[in-house]
Amino acid sequence: MPLTITAHEILDDAIRLTWSDGRESLFHHVWLRDNCPDSRHRETWERIDDVLSFDPETRPTEAALSSNGDISITWNDGHRSCFARDWLRRHCYSEPARLEHRPMPTTWAGGPGATPPRLTHDAIMETDAGLLSFLEILRDQGCCVVSGMPDERKAGEALAQRIAYLRETNFGVDFTVVSKPNPNNNAYTALELPAHTDLANREMPPGVQFLHCLVSDAPGGESILVDGFHAALLLREENPDAFDLLTSTPFDYRFHDTEWDVRWRAPVIGLDADGALREIRYNNALRAPLNVAPDLVKPTYQALRAFVAILRDPSNELHFRLGAGEMLVFHNRRVLHGRAAFDPNGGARELHGCYVDIDEMMSRIRVLGGDNLLA
Ligand code: OGA
Ligand code: ZN
Repeated sequence: MPLTITAHEILDDAIRLTWSDGRESLFHHVWLRDNCPDSRHRETWERIDDVLSFDPETRPTEAALSSNGDISITWNDGHRSCFARDWLRRHCYSEPARLEHRPMPTTWAGGPGATPPRLTHDAIMETDAGLLSFLEILRDQGCCVVSGMPDERKAGEALAQRIAYLRETNFGVDFTVVSKPNPNNNAYTALELPAHTDLANREMPPGVQFLHCLVSDAPGGESILVDGFHAALLLREENPDAFDLLTSTPFDYRFHDTEWDVRWRAPVIGLDADGALREIRYNNALRAPLNVAPDLVKPTYQALRAFVAILRDPSNELHFRLGAGEMLVFHNRRVLHGRAAFDPNGGARELHGCYVDIDEMMSRIRVLGGDNLLA
């Protein structure tokens, strides 16, 4: 049953609507006038009129339900606006509606399960439903292993391109993770990589990371994942002062080699305008010398140690071995990844990687769900 408007009332500043499920929405006059459908281009659906184009004190002289259940408003300057009821409901900004619209990732300690969620290469490549479930897993749980990958260097990129174009960085459109001579980063050695987010040294670190395992013969090199959001929530519970410091104190990160010097300064725990967790940015290998006011130096080290202790607590880590023909995919702005050291003399190990950004992942989810066709 579609929801209907069962009552409406013009108040001083706003119109109050009551819905058939009992919810009340308050739409301010200024908000309604700003969102009058006539203020947009009929084809592009982009705005044409701006906030100076109407009197902010404008008010309705009349509001009426039309026969199809939509609401039409006559304004005191004679202008008329008609609002579709499902549009109004989708854009309701009451407290419960705003809570419903907030992203709700499922945080985990030690893994969303005993092993990461798994899907097959063919399910993702061959059906949109498979692609959508893959992306919803990445959005909500932050990681997935894709099995049955073709034994080809380009197979990971081809799957990533089901979402959208790839995110190029100073490491290229794609990159090969092997232990090699003259490495320009720790990933290209056989060293352990403690849990980190990639490219924390950039204004916008890549969003989704793909690591396709082509060869996994070297002893060691097991993969590690940690849910950074879970770790941040634990820190907020156990040590609120440390949490506040890590959300407000910028850390400097830097990558430099003979061709590049890329730096950014930002807090380890990024919050959005509503105070909800937005991103984790932590990469010890790229961490530059701390550069904060002198009285913050010791508390900042204490706060970082408290957070890193949570990240490295084995009960928060998910360990597994990525085999040849499998691809690890994760949300690089939330889930930290790492690997154990490996022995390059005992066998080969080769991963092939690339990135896609979060905007493209979220857009693909909306387009597959048809949300892009709604006003
Ligand atoms: C990387 C990385 C993990 C691995 O290349 O960014 O973290 O298992 N690699 O080698
Ligand atoms: Zn990495």
